[in-house]
Amino acid sequence: MTTLKRLSFLSLLQLCVLATQDVQLAQRAATPDDCAGYNARNVHQTAHSLTADLVLAGACALYGEDIPNLKLTVSYEDSSRLHVKIADAAGKRYQVPESVFPRPKSANLLAVQSELEFKYKTAPFSFQVIRKADKEVLFDTTGHALVFEQQYIRLQTSLPPSANIYGLGEHTNTFRLPSNNFTRTFWNRDAYGVAEGTNLYSTHPIYFEHRTTGTHGVFLLNSNGIDVKINQVNGKTALEYNAIGGIFDFYFLSGSKKDPSEVSRQYAKVAGLPAEVPYWGFGFHQCRYGYQNFVEVADVVANYSKAGIPLETMWTDIDYMKDRWVFTNDPQYFPTNRVQEIIHYLHAHDQHYIVMVDPAVAAQPNKGYGAYDNGVKDGIFLKGSDGNLFHGVVWPGVTVYPDWFNPKTQSYWTNEFKTFFDPKSGWDIDGLWIDMNEAASFCPYPCDPEATAASGGFPPNRTTPPPDPNAPIFTDVKRSAMPLPESVYTDVEIVEREDVSIDARAPAINASLNYLEPPYAIANAAGALSASTVYTDAVHSNGLIEYDVHNLYGTMMSIASQKAMEARRPGLRTLIITRSTFAGAGAKVGKWLGDNLSTWWHYRNSVAGVLGFNAIYQVPMVGPDTCGFGADTTEFLCSRWATLGAFYPFYRNHNQDGQRPQEFYRWPLVTAAAKNALDIRYRLLDYFNTALHAQTVDGSPSWNPLFFKYPADKNTWGIDTQFFFGDSILVSPVVEENSTSVTFYLPKDKFYDFKTFAPIEGKGANVTLNDVAFTDIPVYIRGGTVLPLRAKSAMTTTALRKNDFQIVVAPAADGTASGKLYVDDGVSLKQKATTEVSFKYAKGRLTVTGHFGYKLGVKISSVTVLGVKSSGPYKLDGKAVAKTSVAVNAASQSVDVKIGIPFTKPFTLSVA
Ligand code: GLC
Repeated sequence: MTTLKRLSFLSLLQLCVLATQDVQLAQRAATPDDCAGYNARNVHQTAHSLTADLVLAGACALYGEDIPNLKLTVSYEDSSRLHVKIADAAGKRYQVPESVFPRPKSANLLAVQSELEFKYKTAPFSFQVIRKADKEVLFDTTGHALVFEQQYIRLQTSLPPSANIYGLGEHTNTFRLPSNNFTRTFWNRDAYGVAEGTNLYSTHPIYFEHRTTGTHGVFLLNSNGIDVKINQVNGKTALEYNAIGGIFDFYFLSGSKKDPSEVSRQYAKVAGLPAEVPYWGFGFHQCRYGYQNFVEVADVVANYSKAGIPLETMWTDIDYMKDRWVFTNDPQYFPTNRVQEIIHYLHAHDQHYIVMVDPAVAAQPNKGYGAYDNGVKDGIFLKGSDGNLFHGVVWPGVTVYPDWFNPKTQSYWTNEFKTFFDPKSGWDIDGLWIDMNEAASFCPYPCDPEATAASGGFPPNRTTPPPDPNAPIFTDVKRSAMPLPESVYTDVEIVEREDVSIDARAPAINASLNYLEPPYAIANAAGALSASTVYTDAVHSNGLIEYDVHNLYGTMMSIASQKAMEARRPGLRTLIITRSTFAGAGAKVGKWLGDNLSTWWHYRNSVAGVLGFNAIYQVPMVGPDTCGFGADTTEFLCSRWATLGAFYPFYRNHNQDGQRPQEFYRWPLVTAAAKNALDIRYRLLDYFNTALHAQTVDGSPSWNPLFFKYPADKNTWGIDTQFFFGDSILVSPVVEENSTSVTFYLPKDKFYDFKTFAPIEGKGANVTLNDVAFTDIPVYIRGGTVLPLRAKSAMTTTALRKNDFQIVVAPAADGTASGKLYVDDGVSLKQKATTEVSFKYAKGRLTVTGHFGYKLGVKISSVTVLGVKSSGPYKLDGKAVAKTSVAVNAASQSVDVKIGIPFTKPFTLSVA
């Protein structure tokens, strides 16, 4: 479609809209609170539900035509979940399709069985959601008119002053959101540099609110552009939803008084339980944009192995493609036979391979380009409002976009995967990386695709000559096509740290509406709604308009890609990492945090990002680009980031084309940092896999903010540079630039230093550590934990699984501890047999129970009990353990009991 055609269509629309607006201008309210709202009529209350008609009480017409008649439906879906829906009475408006967001099952409870009460006033209509147990008003629209117009719906709640609100991602704000003068916009955007305060790649309109009385959740299921505004008004926090379409479809989650993670579990029931991850997915991943050819990719693999840094998975960015056309490879730079050699090598060494696939397909007719021709033949590409193929601009230049709503798109996508990624004739990838699925376009608004592609130099010319097609690989591991950065830290002295102090439906297209420039402009950092993305007046094959479903594109690509990967690897779990997500995406894929920069701020802020996705949005497999994507990293920053990265669920070093290389082996200091951190990560991998598995079963977060564990301790509520890896490993990275000191919070509790096992009394105060080496990161075990550690690390996760366990018992102040271990084959979607072990420690006795269906094939080499000095006698299943097998460490006050028994059955170990 040409720009001209687009503009004339646009002007027509605008004229129509302006005309409608003129008519209404006379009665128009000045602000939402000047509107009269709606009155509730025909309230029909049964034991199970409440319905009412909401009738417009007076013209509001802030941003167009009011919808005069609405329908309110309240249902008690389970004891902790209340569903409140305010939609147009006719039921014609767009709602998020069930195919993208399957609705949670409702138990259809009696209202009296609910933990929540729905209270309403009829004129004007307002409502409160109250937690019955303590009469706490969780949500309260009293005094704030409901506004429901064609292209603007608004609802406001009053919350306590300076409310503790978390979630509403994706953002790079603090984990606890600012409570004044703050706007969170939902409009998925290619957001290079991930600027604070702007809309980023994903939309998760769920927030948790924490009070001394408990933690609850509020989810608005709406995929339209939204501004959520948070302000302080008359001594209260006003949280206001301003959406440019859809309906108010709220799920209120009662949460819990004592355990904030309860609301995570409740939200998981709504958004869907997260996908299980292949065990190897937790290994370390290396990636960069700008690996020039197959030789360079092979060199990186070889250099990692030479440096002795475990590399689990090698990645290749769009560089492999011919002119950046998806489902092609450049035969000179990345010839299939040589890439296959790399893949065989990786597989033979228990390593893995992942490549990038973008959604946009180069618009290259008559070139024998299968991905384009097949899509055109199947009619699966998205069409513009004029009925022609919609054209944007992505890496290859002018592109078209798959329409995931088209019923034929799945088979198209699956076939392209089957062909290009054929294990025998093609590229046998193990996992997948999907990107640019906001959907991104480099075209501004208005868009002239040809001009943009030409002026932006898409696709770019290759800047290096092609490699020798017969170049030997994996032979000369010293070769590097890229210059090694100078080390600024020549004298690598690893300083031991000292503890200094303890402190669907498709509504008809409405010609009177402006889908390109709606009257209420959300605060989209890209500018116009259609800037740098698909035009919002594009129409999907089922009649849905991009205006409504824009925020679903990345999740729909995720669903289709997951099916395509499963089709080529039947029965196997798949690791798919996407950039754009909508609520519920975690059920299919993991996510990386997009194009961050190599700055200390981005390093620090990554913790808040991971907390949001893991603990709130239920997309637990998440991590940022370690060492930073844009801008040049530094040796110190990359060292620190390598150690922090070892505690992200998804640990990948990724770098932008043209930036200084940052593979961990580039500097001795970073090498040491990565090795040290990977050693800890891998020893903890079964502990973390157990935590993530538990999240896939019930939604319990595997990465926890401090306040989830210490909800009554106000000091923890705003902390977002420390976190719990799993339930019990407290990580407190050094956060200041180039510093070796860190001051962090240690809650009033018992802890143990992970490295020395020495006990540390948390006093509910700050602790300062000086001399934290750049290779080190402060890690503590929370008292009350039994940790199933692998006794030693390994170069791959496959090798790791052959290592014995060391059980570490870290008792709480009351002398008790507990823990769990879950092991399966690590790869199959359906497990034939699993091992699930429970550890309990009390009164000097460790009891290990459970079932051992999956054969671990390893031993428990030792049990290490912390905080004790007793040399025994120790008894294993009642039989004394030889004195020579017991080692007391007086300095750390711990005892290591070598038991060396096969890990195949329950046992007890006790100190007599
Ligand atoms: C996008 C991605 C980035 C990738 C680049 C090239 O910017 O966010 O990770 O390297 O595209 O594919």
